[in-house]
Amino acid sequence: MPDRYDLPAGFRWGAATAAYQIEGAVAEDGRGPSVWDTFTARPGAIRDGHTGAVACDHYHRYPEDIALMKGLGLDGYRFSIAWSRIQPVGSGPVNPAGLAFYDRLADALLDAGITPLPTLFHWDLPQALEDEGGWLDRDTAYRFAEYAAIVADRLGDRIPAWITLNEPFVHTVFGYAMGVHAPGRTLMFEALPAAHHQLLGHGLAASVLHDRGLEVMLSNNLTPVEPASPSAADTAAAQAYDTLHNRLFTDPVLLGRYPDLSALGVPDDIYGAVRPGDLDLIHAPGLDGLGVNYYNPTRVAAPTDPVLPFDLVDIPDAPHTAFGWPVVPDALRRLLLGLRDTYGTALPPVTITENGCSVAESTAPDQPRIDYLATHLDALAQAVAEGVDVRGYYTWSLLDNFEWAEGLFSQRFGLVHVDFETQKRTPRASYAWYRDLIAAHRARRPPVGDHGGGGTPVTSG
Ligand code: BGC
Ligand code: BGC
Repeated sequence: MPDRYDLPAGFRWGAATAAYQIEGAVAEDGRGPSVWDTFTARPGAIRDGHTGAVACDHYHRYPEDIALMKGLGLDGYRFSIAWSRIQPVGSGPVNPAGLAFYDRLADALLDAGITPLPTLFHWDLPQALEDEGGWLDRDTAYRFAEYAAIVADRLGDRIPAWITLNEPFVHTVFGYAMGVHAPGRTLMFEALPAAHHQLLGHGLAASVLHDRGLEVMLSNNLTPVEPASPSAADTAAAQAYDTLHNRLFTDPVLLGRYPDLSALGVPDDIYGAVRPGDLDLIHAPGLDGLGVNYYNPTRVAAPTDPVLPFDLVDIPDAPHTAFGWPVVPDALRRLLLGLRDTYGTALPPVTITENGCSVAESTAPDQPRIDYLATHLDALAQAVAEGVDVRGYYTWSLLDNFEWAEGLFSQRFGLVHVDFETQKRTPRASYAWYRDLIAAHRARRPPVGDHGGGGTPVTSG
């Protein structure tokens, strides 16, 4: 059986974070408020009333964090850019101090031999755009493309590959349908125009990036969906959920069409949001790489309540993370083979842009995280051996951080422990494990053209 040491030569090792989860400094250097500043101020929205106002204070401590990355031997670092640092109200004038931060960050990464992989949108929409309707408003897609042009013009000379959106599924469903994330809307299926407008924004931004000679990826949260039983009712429910979670976000980009939404009771034109020509704008720019964020599979049964066409049920036979998510490494292999079978030659090379688990702080010495990472990387190597083209792996996350609705303390995803009182960083056992894995893999499969030096970066995407 192939294992993680068999991943191909030149395979890119990375770690991932996101702006609002680590930066802090929310009122500094002209940053405008985002929907997450507003939402975290809402009583009861976030566990223990936490916010990302300070988080890991990465805005000031990024040199220390880059030193930690260098210690791991990373090829790449995935982070996100806070739109409201670049354009405080999401449109119009540029804030030079905000751009300058990402400029310093990119240069410091490159000095450390680490390729920056920025995500343009990881859920922190400028509040001023939300006040106009946010992603429910079609104009937001056009504002997003303008913002993409601003940052690409400044950083594109040094950063070859870009991710447009992070997980439009989670942002739409948690943020606009269920209201557990910012902006806290509870529109149920009527939230789906927000999905279409994000995809439209992706397509418009992809054209902007391609015009500048840059590579484009999109990071989707994908989950293999399994019916709770072989019954027709469970199977139909599983198909409906697969449509909502996976195909709604991947088919338009890779195939240029939406899946059949009738099982969700959603009209084909997504409540009037889809206009003639939109699918071309989404599909035609093409994708140089599909980012896959994978955490767990989903088991689905026939609905018991009349509102939704499915019920999500537990997978009791699997171990669970601190978050209660089932741990099923082979589901990652199945997910990747399923992508290849579904999309065939329309599937671009894949990069795992998030994978990891939260471990309770009391659990020492971090063995559950090491087990999670090791077993998922073995499953990944098996998918590669079975022919799926996977170019890299960015673990979530470098640091413990602001875990959205769960606040700061309860769900710790970091290879590095963060004490949020003192900002002290302490590498965990998984940090040393990942460092050693990267070194051992490089020794066994030296990057092409590497004659024993530090690991020559190859182009991603
Ligand atoms: C999913 C994860 C996702 C998370 C968002 C979970 O239910 O399984 O994949 O990242 O929700 O917080
Ligand atoms: C998100 C991250 C999040 C992680 C764990 C993904 O849904 O992109 O921001 O922290 O999963 O929930």
